[in-house]
Amino acid sequence: MDDALSRWLQLREPADAVARSERLTRIIADALAGTEPVRVLDLATGTGANLRYLAPHLPRLQHWLVVDRDPAVLARLPALTSSWGAARQYDVRTHVNGCGIRGERLECHVETRQLDLGSLTDDEIFAGRHLVTASALLDLVSQHWLSELAARSRAARAAALFTITYNGWSCCSPSEPEDDVIRDLLNRHQHTDKGLGGAAAGPDAAECVVRCFSDAGYRVGTDPSDWSLGSAEHELQRRLIEGWAEAATEMRADPSTIAGWRDRRIAHVDAGRSRIVVGHLDVAALAPRR
Ligand SMILES: C[S@@+](CC[C@H](N)C(=O)[O-])C[C@H]1O[C@@H](n2cnc3c(N)ncnc32)[C@H](O)[C@@H]1O
Repeated sequence: MDDALSRWLQLREPADAVARSERLTRIIADALAGTEPVRVLDLATGTGANLRYLAPHLPRLQHWLVVDRDPAVLARLPALTSSWGAARQYDVRTHVNGCGIRGERLECHVETRQLDLGSLTDDEIFAGRHLVTASALLDLVSQHWLSELAARSRAARAAALFTITYNGWSCCSPSEPEDDVIRDLLNRHQHTDKGLGGAAAGPDAAECVVRCFSDAGYRVGTDPSDWSLGSAEHELQRRLIEGWAEAATEMRADPSTIAGWRDRRIAHVDAGRSRIVVGHLDVAALAPRR
Protein backbone atom coordinates (compact mmCIF):
# COMPACT_ATOMS: atom_id res chain seq x y z
CA MET A 1 0.00 0.00 0.00
CA ASP A 2 1.37 3.44 -0.94
CA ASP A 3 0.98 4.95 2.51
CA ALA A 4 3.10 7.97 1.63
CA LEU A 5 0.77 9.06 -1.18
CA SER A 6 -2.36 8.34 0.89
CA ARG A 7 -0.97 10.36 3.81
CA TRP A 8 -0.08 13.26 1.50
CA LEU A 9 -3.58 13.25 -0.02
CA GLN A 10 -5.22 13.20 3.42
CA LEU A 11 -2.98 16.02 4.58
CA ARG A 12 -3.83 18.26 1.65
CA GLU A 13 -7.59 17.52 1.50
CA PRO A 14 -8.66 20.24 4.01
CA ALA A 15 -6.36 22.85 2.41
CA ASP A 16 -7.72 22.01 -1.06
CA ALA A 17 -11.31 22.26 0.20
CA VAL A 18 -10.71 25.73 1.67
CA ALA A 19 -8.88 26.92 -1.47
CA ARG A 20 -11.36 25.71 -4.10
CA SER A 21 -13.57 28.19 -5.91
CA GLU A 22 -17.12 28.05 -4.54
CA ARG A 23 -18.25 30.23 -7.44
CA LEU A 24 -17.13 27.73 -10.07
CA THR A 25 -18.60 24.82 -8.07
CA ARG A 26 -21.92 26.69 -8.06
CA ILE A 27 -21.75 27.35 -11.81
CA ILE A 28 -21.26 23.63 -12.47
CA ALA A 29 -23.96 22.62 -9.95
CA ASP A 30 -26.43 25.07 -11.53
CA ALA A 31 -25.64 23.77 -15.02
CA LEU A 32 -26.33 20.20 -13.85
CA ALA A 33 -29.50 21.01 -11.88
CA GLY A 34 -32.33 18.72 -12.98
CA THR A 35 -29.96 16.13 -14.49
CA GLU A 36 -30.63 12.93 -12.55
CA PRO A 37 -28.87 10.73 -12.08
CA VAL A 38 -25.88 12.94 -12.81
CA ARG A 39 -23.02 10.83 -14.18
CA VAL A 40 -19.58 12.03 -13.10
CA LEU A 41 -16.07 10.94 -14.07
CA ASP A 42 -13.29 11.83 -11.59
CA LEU A 43 -9.85 11.41 -13.17
CA ALA A 44 -6.94 10.42 -10.88
CA THR A 45 -9.25 10.44 -7.90
CA GLY A 46 -6.61 9.37 -5.36
CA THR A 47 -8.43 8.69 -2.08
CA GLY A 48 -11.55 10.54 -3.30
CA ALA A 49 -11.18 14.10 -1.98
CA ASN A 50 -12.84 15.62 -5.08
CA LEU A 51 -15.84 13.29 -4.69
CA ARG A 52 -16.24 14.21 -1.01
CA TYR A 53 -16.08 17.93 -1.83
CA LEU A 54 -18.44 17.90 -4.81
CA ALA A 55 -21.10 15.30 -3.98
CA PRO A 56 -23.05 17.50 -1.52
CA HIS A 57 -23.26 20.27 -4.17
CA LEU A 58 -24.58 18.20 -7.09
CA PRO A 59 -28.12 16.96 -7.85
CA ARG A 60 -29.37 14.33 -5.40
CA LEU A 61 -28.97 11.20 -7.54
CA GLN A 62 -25.36 10.66 -8.60
CA HIS A 63 -23.33 7.92 -10.31
CA TRP A 64 -19.58 8.40 -10.03
CA LEU A 65 -16.82 6.56 -11.85
CA VAL A 66 -13.57 7.37 -10.04
CA VAL A 67 -10.31 6.17 -11.61
CA ASP A 68 -6.68 6.10 -10.56
CA ARG A 69 -3.70 3.95 -11.49
CA ASP A 70 -2.80 3.32 -7.85
CA PRO A 71 -4.82 0.48 -6.26
CA ALA A 72 -3.57 1.39 -2.78
CA VAL A 73 -5.08 4.88 -2.74
CA LEU A 74 -8.29 3.63 -4.37
CA ALA A 75 -8.58 0.98 -1.66
CA ARG A 76 -8.66 3.71 0.98
CA LEU A 77 -11.49 5.66 -0.65
CA PRO A 78 -14.47 3.75 0.84
CA ALA A 79 -13.20 3.87 4.43
CA LEU A 80 -12.29 7.56 4.22
CA THR A 81 -15.65 8.31 2.66
CA SER A 82 -17.35 6.38 5.48
CA SER A 83 -15.74 8.50 8.20
CA TRP A 84 -16.43 11.66 6.20
CA GLY A 85 -20.07 10.55 5.80
CA ALA A 86 -20.49 9.65 9.47
CA ALA A 87 -19.63 13.23 10.46
CA ARG A 88 -22.40 14.47 8.11
CA GLN A 89 -25.03 11.87 8.94
CA TYR A 90 -24.70 10.14 5.59
CA ASP A 91 -25.10 6.40 5.53
CA VAL A 92 -22.08 5.06 3.62
CA ARG A 93 -22.08 1.38 2.61
CA THR A 94 -18.84 0.08 1.17
CA HIS A 95 -18.92 -2.69 -1.45
CA VAL A 96 -16.49 -4.39 -3.78
CA ASN A 97 -14.99 -1.63 -5.95
CA GLY A 98 -16.72 1.32 -4.37
CA CYS A 99 -19.37 2.56 -2.02
CA GLY A 100 -22.87 3.99 -1.80
CA ILE A 101 -23.67 7.24 0.03
CA ARG A 102 -27.19 8.02 1.23
CA GLY A 103 -28.43 11.11 2.98
CA GLU A 104 -31.50 13.31 3.07
CA ARG A 105 -30.37 15.15 -0.06
CA LEU A 106 -27.88 12.69 -1.50
CA GLU A 107 -28.01 9.27 -3.08
CA CYS A 108 -24.69 8.49 -4.66
CA HIS A 109 -23.26 5.32 -6.21
CA VAL A 110 -19.46 5.31 -6.46
CA GLU A 111 -17.53 2.85 -8.65
CA THR A 112 -13.75 2.80 -8.19
CA ARG A 113 -11.65 1.57 -11.12
CA GLN A 114 -7.92 1.03 -11.38
CA LEU A 115 -6.80 2.47 -14.70
CA ASP A 116 -3.63 4.00 -16.09
CA LEU A 117 -4.66 7.29 -17.70
CA GLY A 118 -1.30 7.71 -19.43
CA SER A 119 -2.63 7.80 -22.96
CA LEU A 120 -6.28 8.70 -22.28
CA THR A 121 -7.45 6.32 -25.00
CA ASP A 122 -10.29 4.66 -23.07
CA ASP A 123 -13.40 6.27 -24.59
CA GLU A 124 -15.73 4.17 -22.46
CA ILE A 125 -14.97 6.09 -19.28
CA PHE A 126 -16.23 9.33 -20.92
CA ALA A 127 -19.34 7.89 -22.55
CA GLY A 128 -22.58 9.31 -21.13
CA ARG A 129 -20.83 11.52 -18.54
CA HIS A 130 -22.45 14.82 -17.58
CA LEU A 131 -19.38 16.04 -15.68
CA VAL A 132 -15.67 15.32 -16.15
CA THR A 133 -13.61 16.49 -13.20
CA ALA A 134 -10.15 16.25 -11.64
CA SER A 135 -8.40 17.79 -8.68
CA ALA A 136 -4.66 18.40 -8.32
CA LEU A 137 -3.93 16.57 -11.57
CA LEU A 138 -3.57 18.81 -14.59
CA ASP A 139 -0.04 20.11 -13.90
CA LEU A 140 1.13 16.47 -14.18
CA VAL A 141 -0.20 15.88 -17.70
CA SER A 142 1.10 16.89 -21.13
CA GLN A 143 -0.38 19.57 -23.39
CA HIS A 144 -1.38 16.82 -25.84
CA TRP A 145 -3.20 15.00 -23.01
CA LEU A 146 -5.12 18.20 -22.26
CA SER A 147 -6.24 18.55 -25.88
CA GLU A 148 -7.38 14.89 -25.84
CA LEU A 149 -9.23 15.59 -22.59
CA ALA A 150 -11.08 18.51 -24.21
CA ALA A 151 -11.95 16.42 -27.29
CA ARG A 152 -13.29 13.49 -25.23
CA SER A 153 -15.24 15.73 -22.86
CA ARG A 154 -16.71 17.53 -25.88
CA ALA A 155 -17.70 14.26 -27.55
CA ALA A 156 -19.63 13.37 -24.37
CA ARG A 157 -21.00 16.96 -24.18
CA ALA A 158 -19.88 16.90 -20.55
CA ALA A 159 -19.31 19.93 -18.35
CA ALA A 160 -15.81 20.07 -16.84
CA LEU A 161 -14.34 21.20 -13.53
CA PHE A 162 -10.60 21.08 -12.85
CA THR A 163 -9.39 22.32 -9.49
CA ILE A 164 -6.13 23.07 -7.68
CA THR A 165 -3.85 23.23 -10.73
CA TYR A 166 -0.46 24.64 -9.71
CA ASN A 167 0.36 27.85 -11.63
CA GLY A 168 4.10 28.18 -10.93
CA TRP A 169 3.87 30.87 -8.25
CA SER A 170 4.58 30.63 -4.54
CA CYS A 171 5.65 32.93 -1.73
CA CYS A 172 7.31 31.94 1.54
CA SER A 173 7.71 34.08 4.61
CA PRO A 174 9.99 34.80 6.32
CA SER A 175 11.91 34.81 3.05
CA GLU A 176 15.19 32.97 2.50
CA PRO A 177 17.79 33.97 -0.12
CA GLU A 178 17.32 30.74 -2.14
CA ASP A 179 13.48 30.83 -2.31
CA ASP A 180 13.33 32.06 -5.92
CA VAL A 181 16.02 29.65 -7.13
CA ILE A 182 14.23 26.69 -5.53
CA ARG A 183 10.93 27.76 -7.07
CA ASP A 184 12.57 28.00 -10.51
CA LEU A 185 14.06 24.51 -10.09
CA LEU A 186 10.68 23.16 -8.97
CA ASN A 187 8.99 24.74 -11.99
CA ARG A 188 11.53 23.11 -14.30
CA HIS A 189 10.95 19.79 -12.53
CA GLN A 190 7.21 20.28 -13.06
CA HIS A 191 7.81 19.98 -16.82
CA THR A 192 9.42 16.53 -16.58
CA ASP A 193 7.44 13.52 -17.82
CA LYS A 194 5.05 12.25 -15.11
CA GLY A 195 3.75 9.35 -17.22
CA LEU A 196 0.69 11.21 -18.46
CA GLY A 197 1.24 11.75 -22.16
CA GLY A 198 4.82 13.12 -22.24
CA ALA A 199 6.52 16.25 -20.87
CA ALA A 200 4.15 17.70 -18.28
CA ALA A 201 2.46 21.04 -18.86
CA GLY A 202 3.41 21.96 -15.27
CA PRO A 203 2.78 25.63 -14.48
CA ASP A 204 1.40 26.14 -18.04
CA ALA A 205 -1.38 23.59 -17.53
CA ALA A 206 -4.15 25.93 -16.42
CA GLU A 207 -3.58 28.31 -19.33
CA CYS A 208 -3.41 25.33 -21.69
CA VAL A 209 -6.64 23.72 -20.46
CA VAL A 210 -8.46 27.05 -20.85
CA ARG A 211 -7.23 27.25 -24.47
CA CYS A 212 -8.09 23.60 -25.28
CA PHE A 213 -11.64 23.82 -23.91
CA SER A 214 -12.25 27.25 -25.48
CA ASP A 215 -11.06 25.90 -28.84
CA ALA A 216 -13.50 22.99 -28.40
CA GLY A 217 -16.35 25.51 -28.11
CA TYR A 218 -16.72 25.54 -24.30
CA ARG A 219 -17.56 28.59 -22.19
CA VAL A 220 -14.68 28.68 -19.72
CA GLY A 221 -14.33 30.42 -16.36
CA THR A 222 -11.36 30.55 -13.99
CA ASP A 223 -10.78 31.51 -10.36
CA PRO A 224 -7.66 31.44 -8.19
CA SER A 225 -7.54 28.61 -5.65
CA ASP A 226 -4.29 29.40 -3.85
CA TRP A 227 -3.24 27.58 -0.71
CA SER A 228 -2.53 29.97 2.13
CA LEU A 229 -0.79 27.86 4.75
CA GLY A 230 -0.10 29.07 8.27
CA SER A 231 0.88 27.47 11.55
CA ALA A 232 -2.26 25.30 11.63
CA GLU A 233 -0.96 23.57 8.49
CA HIS A 234 2.54 22.95 9.86
CA GLU A 235 2.64 19.29 8.76
CA LEU A 236 1.48 20.14 5.24
CA GLN A 237 4.09 22.92 5.05
CA ARG A 238 6.78 20.53 6.24
CA ARG A 239 5.87 17.91 3.60
CA LEU A 240 5.68 20.61 0.92
CA ILE A 241 9.16 21.91 1.74
CA GLU A 242 10.56 18.34 1.72
CA GLY A 243 8.91 17.72 -1.66
CA TRP A 244 10.25 20.95 -3.16
CA ALA A 245 13.75 20.15 -1.87
CA GLU A 246 13.61 16.66 -3.44
CA ALA A 247 12.43 18.06 -6.78
CA ALA A 248 15.16 20.73 -6.75
CA THR A 249 17.81 18.09 -5.97
CA GLU A 250 16.58 15.96 -8.89
CA MET A 251 17.27 18.96 -11.13
CA ARG A 252 20.95 18.53 -10.18
CA ALA A 253 21.16 21.62 -8.01
CA ASP A 254 23.89 21.73 -5.36
CA PRO A 255 22.62 19.34 -2.62
CA SER A 256 24.20 21.31 0.24
CA THR A 257 22.53 24.56 -0.89
CA ILE A 258 19.18 22.77 -1.04
CA ALA A 259 19.70 21.09 2.34
CA GLY A 260 20.58 24.43 3.98
CA TRP A 261 17.47 26.06 2.51
CA ARG A 262 15.27 23.13 3.58
CA ASP A 263 16.60 23.15 7.15
CA ARG A 264 16.04 26.90 7.55
CA ARG A 265 12.52 26.70 6.07
CA ILE A 266 11.61 23.79 8.36
CA ALA A 267 13.01 25.69 11.35
CA HIS A 268 10.55 28.51 10.49
CA VAL A 269 7.72 25.93 10.41
CA ASP A 270 8.78 24.39 13.73
CA ALA A 271 8.90 27.85 15.31
CA GLY A 272 5.34 28.53 14.10
CA ARG A 273 6.35 31.61 12.06
CA SER A 274 6.25 30.17 8.54
CA ARG A 275 3.57 31.11 6.04
CA ILE A 276 3.50 29.69 2.51
CA VAL A 277 1.18 30.73 -0.29
CA VAL A 278 1.03 28.43 -3.33
CA GLY A 279 -0.67 29.62 -6.52
CA HIS A 280 -3.37 27.43 -8.09
CA LEU A 281 -6.14 27.96 -10.62
CA ASP A 282 -9.59 26.37 -10.85
CA VAL A 283 -11.20 26.02 -14.27
CA ALA A 284 -14.88 25.33 -15.07
CA ALA A 285 -16.10 24.74 -18.60
CA LEU A 286 -19.64 24.45 -19.95
CA ALA A 287 -20.22 22.52 -23.16
CA PRO A 288 -21.78 24.27 -26.14
CA ARG A 289 -25.52 23.72 -26.47
CA ARG A 290 -26.67 21.13 -29.02
C1 LIG B 1 -1.85 14.89 -6.56
S1 LIG B 1 -2.75 13.41 -6.61
C2 LIG B 1 -4.42 14.02 -6.63
C3 LIG B 1 -5.41 13.01 -6.14
C4 LIG B 1 -6.84 13.51 -5.92
N1 LIG B 1 -7.42 13.96 -7.16
C5 LIG B 1 -6.92 14.57 -4.86
O1 LIG B 1 -7.24 15.71 -5.18
O2 LIG B 1 -6.67 14.25 -3.68
C6 LIG B 1 -2.51 12.80 -8.23
C7 LIG B 1 -3.14 11.45 -8.48
O3 LIG B 1 -2.85 11.06 -9.83
C8 LIG B 1 -2.71 9.67 -9.87
N2 LIG B 1 -2.00 9.33 -11.12
C9 LIG B 1 -0.74 9.69 -11.45
N3 LIG B 1 -0.44 9.19 -12.66
C10 LIG B 1 -1.53 8.49 -13.09
C11 LIG B 1 -1.82 7.74 -14.27
N4 LIG B 1 -0.92 7.57 -15.24
N5 LIG B 1 -3.04 7.18 -14.38
C12 LIG B 1 -3.97 7.33 -13.40
N6 LIG B 1 -3.74 8.02 -12.27
C13 LIG B 1 -2.54 8.60 -12.11
C14 LIG B 1 -1.93 9.35 -8.59
O4 LIG B 1 -2.05 7.98 -8.24
C15 LIG B 1 -2.58 10.31 -7.61
O5 LIG B 1 -3.65 9.68 -6.93
